Amino acid sequence: MKDAITILKSEHRSISAVLHGLQQLARMAHEATVRPRFQVLRSMVRYIDEYPERLHHPKEDRHLFPRLEERAPQAKALIEELRAEHVMGAQLIRDLEQALVALEVGWQGGAKAFRAAVDAYAEFHWKHMRKEEQQLLPLAERHLLPEDWKAIDAAFAANTDPIAGMRERDFEQLFTRIVNLAPAPVGLGDPWAKPASG
Ligand SMILES: [Fe+2]
Ligand SMILES: [Fe+2]
Repeated sequence: MKDAITILKSEHRSISAVLHGLQQLARMAHEATVRPRFQVLRSMVRYIDEYPERLHHPKEDRHLFPRLEERAPQAKALIEELRAEHVMGAQLIRDLEQALVALEVGWQGGAKAFRAAVDAYAEFHWKHMRKEEQQLLPLAERHLLPEDWKAIDAAFAANTDPIAGMRERDFEQLFTRIVNLAPAPVGLGDPWAKPASG
């Protein structure tokens, strides 16, 4: 498999893992009466907001999409859709942030709305990633030329770009923090049943 495709898919897996975790915690906040630790919820929302925005989408928007559009004009409509979804995703995450603030300010109200916002965002993002993996990447593998892959692979390898490399390390640290803070079964943190400062 091409390096760039391996990287894209592995980034999708990281986003997916945090989305799954957030869904579980939103369900716990809705169904249990213990006050969530808001720090971990904020970290997770930050991750699914900033990781695609800063690290993942730029690779697709700047490198993969334009080259594929050039080599395979029939992919244009699909690429337009995916670009529009990148913009829409950024808006949907604002709804999620607002729902999280409402949950924290109005606890125990707001848990149902927060859970619904998390589920809506997760559904939207999974659909987007599936579209890329099942429709876009096969087209890329069929139509891009070796020189395209050479340029794309180079752009995707974060260690050739010090800023992207730094960001990648930041996100790895944030991911570790989420795992350390989130209660079981999502992570290794203290259970929410204990009195918590949030
Ligand atoms: Fe995308
Ligand atoms: Fe993607």
